Amino acid sequence: MLQIRSKLLYNQRVQGGFFRLVARAAGMIREAAPGKFVDIRIDDGYGPLLRRPFSIHRVREQNIEVIYEVLGKGTEVLSRKKPGEYLDIIGPLGNGYSILDVRYSILIAGGMGVAPLIFLTEKLAERKTQNAKRKIIVLIGAKTKNEILCAKEFTRLGCDVKISTDDGSRGFKGKVTDLLKKILPFVICHKRLAIYACGPRPMLKEVSRVSTTYKIPAQISLEEHLACGIGACLGCVVNTKEGFKRVCKEGPVFNAEEIIWPDC
Ligand SMILES: Cc1cc2nc3c(=O)[nH]c(=O)nc-3n(C[C@H](O)[C@H](O)[C@H](O)COP(=O)(O)OP(=O)(O)OC[C@H]3O[C@@H](n4cnc5c(N)ncnc54)[C@H](O)[C@@H]3O)c2cc1C
Ligand code: FES
Repeated sequence: MLQIRSKLLYNQRVQGGFFRLVARAAGMIREAAPGKFVDIRIDDGYGPLLRRPFSIHRVREQNIEVIYEVLGKGTEVLSRKKPGEYLDIIGPLGNGYSILDVRYSILIAGGMGVAPLIFLTEKLAERKTQNAKRKIIVLIGAKTKNEILCAKEFTRLGCDVKISTDDGSRGFKGKVTDLLKKILPFVICHKRLAIYACGPRPMLKEVSRVSTTYKIPAQISLEEHLACGIGACLGCVVNTKEGFKRVCKEGPVFNAEEIIWPDC
């Protein structure tokens, strides 16, 4: 883990309230892995005081890419930063996904959950040369078609992409977890199957339920609110079968079956 003063190279709107940021992060590239994140200090003063965590979307040469949605003060201030400005970044943080040697990988993204999955797809696709039969199915869910991100990039990387929207404006009408249940009968016969997911809590909870029921190994990335981001404050703990664990340190990626969800 490093703390660097990173030069912002690019920071532009992708669509709607979603932005792509590219920053120079030479020292971090070697440790970067899918599912790990960076913690960005948005402002030198108090607006806001706490750093904001973002998944590593991709690395290119000496640069790190992040995609983010403007939600509140921190991301709004971030969206106004210009190339040439400097950001104080800590990272890479967290554990990241473990890449399993399976034939079918199902990646499930809810909304901004696509962020770490492009990097993961690139790593899975690299392994494809060793295992020509590896198939990557990507399920992207969002409220409307305007919030579907990265579909073309996943297709370009050779994935079979399926989309769901809550309002039916694109793809399957309903939740992405309903889409998962719809496609599972077609792939469940393949014993070598794994799920990787990132998205809102209710989605991850359902992914955990389904994957546990079907005994499919599943890794989920939790996006809790973080405070220190480096394991010191215990402000991000989740309950697991092995006791409380810190999302920022032992996570953000957990085996789905290990999480004890509230009210279950
Ligand atoms: C490990 C990790 C990786 C993340 N990766 C990304 C990413 O790649 N791209 C991205 O856009 N966001 C990502 N997030 C979420 C991101 O950190 C928050 O959206 C951001 O901190 C919001 O800051 P803000 O000041 O704009 O909003 P705030 O003013 O802090 O909050 C605005 C609204 O967003 C909600 N919110 C804030 N933080 C979170 C959170 N962690 N999860 C869910 N809702 C939240 C608040 O409840 C509130 O409703 C990640 C979070 C974690 C923990
Ligand atoms: S945010 Fe402080 S321990 Fe995780």
